Amino acid sequence: MTTDEASASLIVPARALRDIVGYACMAPSVHNTQPWSWHASGNRLELSADPWRRLPLADARGRNLVISCGAALHHAQIAAAALGWEPIVNRLPEGDDSTLLASIELTSTEPSPDSGEELQAIRDRCTDRRRFTSWPVPEERLRHLAATAEESGAHVMLLQDPSDRVRTELLVGRALDLQSTDEPLAAEQRRWVDHSVRDGVPGVVIPANAPNEVHLRTRFGSGHLAEPDRDLEGSDGLLVMRGAADDKLAWLRTGEGLSALWLRATREGLSVVPLSQVIEVDETRERLRAEVLQGMGTPHLLVRVGWQAISRSALPRTPRRPQDDVLTL
Ligand SMILES: Cc1cc2nc3c(=O)[nH]c(=O)nc-3n(C[C@H](O)[C@H](O)[C@H](O)COP(=O)(O)O)c2cc1C
Repeated sequence: MTTDEASASLIVPARALRDIVGYACMAPSVHNTQPWSWHASGNRLELSADPWRRLPLADARGRNLVISCGAALHHAQIAAAALGWEPIVNRLPEGDDSTLLASIELTSTEPSPDSGEELQAIRDRCTDRRRFTSWPVPEERLRHLAATAEESGAHVMLLQDPSDRVRTELLVGRALDLQSTDEPLAAEQRRWVDHSVRDGVPGVVIPANAPNEVHLRTRFGSGHLAEPDRDLEGSDGLLVMRGAADDKLAWLRTGEGLSALWLRATREGLSVVPLSQVIEVDETRERLRAEVLQGMGTPHLLVRVGWQAISRSALPRTPRRPQDDVLTL
């Protein structure tokens, strides 16, 4: 055995496995449900979906659940590489029906060259729903973000055409209205605001008195976060993440792409807010597919990208489940 082979076959220390999973769990998830569990043994990490954490009404098929797990899977790959472990991922190793979504084999390697920045981006990333400034995001940057997501196996369409953008905003508003008048669904959503000290969306990260304009309303209503007083222009970037299929593997890849795009945006000082309601509602998802994507793929997630004010206050971190709850070793 050569020295290289010997070091590659090292058993991954428990400390490193814990660190990788710790970073993975900083990933975004729908309503901060963190619908995942991890199992580590030897050189392998396994990621499973936690079906008990699926939103039964807003996410009956588990699309958002799997996208969230895909984001955690990508976070794990970035953290592993940054900490000196090359990840080899096997997606859906037991097929579509199993809750096991991926296994990751780790072999020892040199830490990735920009490991410090990669890990910092994971720590810095957050969902900041305060209104964006009117500084436009150059098309080239948006294309670059889309390309970053595509390198991670996702498919992304940039909405540049003004009529596509208006149509999409109207569909977002329609989905919001339909969901807010569906009492059981609205109640499910309310339950995840200030849900617990370990999960859910804290009221302190939800902007207060969300104004009436369609594209400034958040699904969580009005929270406690002060909003800057500023005129708004429709200059945000809008991206549709989509897939050739509407199935588990395609959702997992979308989640990985979402994480790649978001970490890159974070490093560039851009803010990202996913908007899933327009996809959750059958009517608006179908209209987005037919009228905006023109039948080219099926939409998985809408993403808004923009610049936050430089003078903004720091956003409190959303909570995470304790590691003993999500990891078995
Ligand atoms: C699949 C998915 C769907 C999401 N949908 C929305 C949404 O419709 N509206 C919204 O404000 N945030 C949405 N989010 C953001 C989550 O609420 C957020 O990631 C979570 O509360 C954790 O907070 P953090 O991103 O600041 O860590 C979504 C995130 C994911 C991964």
